[in-house]
Amino acid sequence: MHRFKYRDNLLCCENAAIRDIAKRFGTPFYLYSHKTLTDHYDKIRIAFKSLNPLICFSVKANSNLAVLKTLVSRGSGLDIVSGGELYKALKVGCPSGRIVYASVGKKTSEIEEAIRRNIFSFNVESEPELATINQIAGRLRKRSRVSLRLNPDVDAMTHKYITTGKSENKFGLDLAKAAGIYRNTRRYPNLNIDGVHIHIGSQITESLPFVKAIKKTLRFIDSLKVPIKNFNIGGGMGIIYSDERPQTAQQFAKRIIPLLKGRPFRLILEPGRFIAGNSGILVTRVIYIKQAFQKKFAIVDAGMNDLIRPSLYSAYHEILPVRRQAKAPVNKYDIVGPICESGDFLAKDRRFNRLKTGDLLAVMGAGAYGFTMASNYNSRPRVSEIMVEGRRVCLVRRAETYKDLIKGEILPRGI
Ligand code: LLP
Repeated sequence: MHRFKYRDNLLCCENAAIRDIAKRFGTPFYLYSHKTLTDHYDKIRIAFKSLNPLICFSVKANSNLAVLKTLVSRGSGLDIVSGGELYKALKVGCPSGRIVYASVGKKTSEIEEAIRRNIFSFNVESEPELATINQIAGRLRKRSRVSLRLNPDVDAMTHKYITTGKSENKFGLDLAKAAGIYRNTRRYPNLNIDGVHIHIGSQITESLPFVKAIKKTLRFIDSLKVPIKNFNIGGGMGIIYSDERPQTAQQFAKRIIPLLKGRPFRLILEPGRFIAGNSGILVTRVIYIKQAFQKKFAIVDAGMNDLIRPSLYSAYHEILPVRRQAKAPVNKYDIVGPICESGDFLAKDRRFNRLKTGDLLAVMGAGAYGFTMASNYNSRPRVSEIMVEGRRVCLVRRAETYKDLIKGEILPRGI
């Protein structure tokens, strides 16, 4: 349940009318509901409470400092994938003992910084990476904790670009190779290789793929006969974008907990989308209506550079008019951005009553993989981010300016 609801026919975020926010800050902007974020974090926390897990919010889903801070102050840890995300995690005061670090391509400088900061653990995806972490830890006279990321070869039954646990994916180690490593940990004297990590994909709406992957991993762990202290089952729990019926955190937990109850390991979860997805929207304004040969286009001021999911994954995002329309929706529109690409659309063939220049639209479910995947394509400044808590409206990132667009660029003399 999110907190974007109509009141007196005006879409509100918690107790703030979006029309007023748009008037004050201009469009487009991302808008986050503080209460929705904390509610969704609590849903997972409560559902898995009996296992006392470490919940590490996946920073890649939404790395705004206010979002991270909101979750970290409620006890969340963070799942990071880069030196930049480590920097942000530390910036919001996340205790380093609650940071886990995944990624197939960690650079030595990133590894070094993470070791110096004593993060909870590395999720390691290859033997060369393992050797590198071991060597750096040795140089720094530290011992680092490692979970091996396994590729359980299970189909997560989601979009092919966000499936990560199949044998053809680049992620994780196959079980045979991983077994060899667990049995020969002496080769890595500066590492405690005592954890297992899996992450089979994203936007998973059924518990079955999780159950399959966890069972397979448990069989693997049992066959190893080496002590495993941490079992990180990754993220991936799905949300409602249109007519999906994803299982709730309770339903996922009901299937997962019995598999892990009584086992000696600490459970780690890395949810991203489940917490942030429906906690944020993108608010945009119609610039022009264009009647073309076969279609009506509503050209809006947000484009694929602001929200790339529809273009990249053909993802569906519900579009709501900020002022509720009275009459039955009769006209079909493609909602498109100003960018010079035919792939620049936010939605296709959506029914509205009548859209006109100046109308405000809310692109729903944009809190995860929205702003974090935004770019400056077409030299478009990235938009602002705003967070609402009750009635309080906080600008949590100002929109970029033209000056920001050239920040760091250098014009060589004489060209
Ligand atoms: N842990 C690992 C190791 C991951 O790779 C991911 C996401 C997560 C956790 C969090 O997954 P979540 O709970 O959010 O499903 N850009 C795509 C999604 C890519 C997901 C990448 N990894 C999208 O917009 O749908």
